[in-house]
Amino acid sequence: MINLAVFASGNGSNFQAIAQAAGSGGLKANLSLVICDNLKARVIDRAIKAKVKVVLIRREDFSDKIGFENAIIDTLIREKIGLIALAGFMRILSSGFIRKFKGRIINIHPSLLPSFKGKHGIKDAFDYGSKVTGVTVHFVDEHIDHGPIILQQPVLIKESDNLGSLEKRIHQAEHQAYPQAIKLIVQKKVKINGRKVKVSIR
Ligand code: GRF
Repeated sequence: MINLAVFASGNGSNFQAIAQAAGSGGLKANLSLVICDNLKARVIDRAIKAKVKVVLIRREDFSDKIGFENAIIDTLIREKIGLIALAGFMRILSSGFIRKFKGRIINIHPSLLPSFKGKHGIKDAFDYGSKVTGVTVHFVDEHIDHGPIILQQPVLIKESDNLGSLEKRIHQAEHQAYPQAIKLIVQKKVKINGRKVKVSIR
């Protein structure tokens, strides 16, 4: 079974959704590692409760980014990680790192890419007055919020919504979409062809 690592810096609700799917046997992956760069992150507690190993690797403990990333790489190799799911990991990985794990790093973003890239995808769509937004799970390439799209789930923005109510529905959609995308990859139903990702669903 493939070993899966989640990278997270904060709350960890996506980690939790993935852990639940893995725990109920619905993922066919071994969720074996959380890489966290923030001692105060709630994901640490969640990982301990889910009995998933957490390794804290903080940027400030290294003099440069290469040292920080090498520490992550060493951990991934030691733990024989085959797939990396970024879930609210607030560091931009270098192109060297991304090339090393090409096709094996995925990310979730809270908008329908390529709209509303960046840190505030939910608020930006809400403020813009969009009628539809959603979530995107994509492979990570060397550009931010850009790699080939695995799946997207739309979320309607209602006139009665405020930012909080929209955020809630976006997170619910994320918690369905991320485990679903991981499952498809693990089942080898996902093939990258340039910008296109072919998903075979039987
Ligand atoms: C999610 O909205 C995700 O799309 C974005 O960061 C947030 C992480 O939330 N990349 P959580 O830490 O998983 O609760």
